[in-house]
Amino acid sequence: MPLMRLDKILADMGVGSRREIKALIKNGRVTVNNEAAASGEMKLDTERAEISVDGLPVEYKEFRYVMLNKPAGYVCASEDRRERTVMELLDGRLRRQGLFSVGRLDKDTEGLLILTNDGDYAHRVISPKSDICKRYYAKVEGVLNRSDAEKMLEGLVLGDGTRCLPAGLEIISENECVVSLREGKYHQVKRMMACLGKRVQYLKRLSIGGLMLDERLAIGRWRELGEEEIALSLRTENGY
Ligand code: URA
Repeated sequence: MPLMRLDKILADMGVGSRREIKALIKNGRVTVNNEAAASGEMKLDTERAEISVDGLPVEYKEFRYVMLNKPAGYVCASEDRRERTVMELLDGRLRRQGLFSVGRLDKDTEGLLILTNDGDYAHRVISPKSDICKRYYAKVEGVLNRSDAEKMLEGLVLGDGTRCLPAGLEIISENECVVSLREGKYHQVKRMMACLGKRVQYLKRLSIGGLMLDERLAIGRWRELGEEEIALSLRTENGY
């Protein structure tokens, strides 16, 4: 039975600062099991206590996992002095829970981005050792051909000598494809395409492991992932 102080639960869930939480409790705006909470010091079972603030439930979760349909024009950073960040697309509570993006998408890349505060999970998703496939839809300038796909499968060596792991290239039309990577080097798809003499015009991440971008999620919107979806994002598959 994991016991925790009410004020700590509320602070960890991003409800507000310690001072704000104290005021919320004092003003009777926090209920525990349908009764106004008497003090922030009360210890609660985080798995059972029903906590609400202004009548809205606050669910305690140590780790959070969010799927965002990233729009172009936002950088993957917690803060940036010049650019808009993906964090600005989340609500205040989530922002206060220390989420960070699992890997990065470029400012002009759209699509599936996972945000979490679980460092071990993020490491597993990103690490090439985990062999988790990330798929990207790309529209390019230049004509894609079979020999491009063969070169990708052999493992490209980029202009600066960087060696890429074997990757998949599924050609949809002469200038559209799906690229499958098991690693995430800086600007990797763009640099791979440049190596093949193409320029990426548009890039969107479609999936991570077995987790597909929920196309019902409008661009710029997010939702929390369920247990099964988290497991799917860690799924490895053979081949491309
Ligand atoms: N590869 C890129 O070039 N950019 C991204 O945002 C992701 C993969």
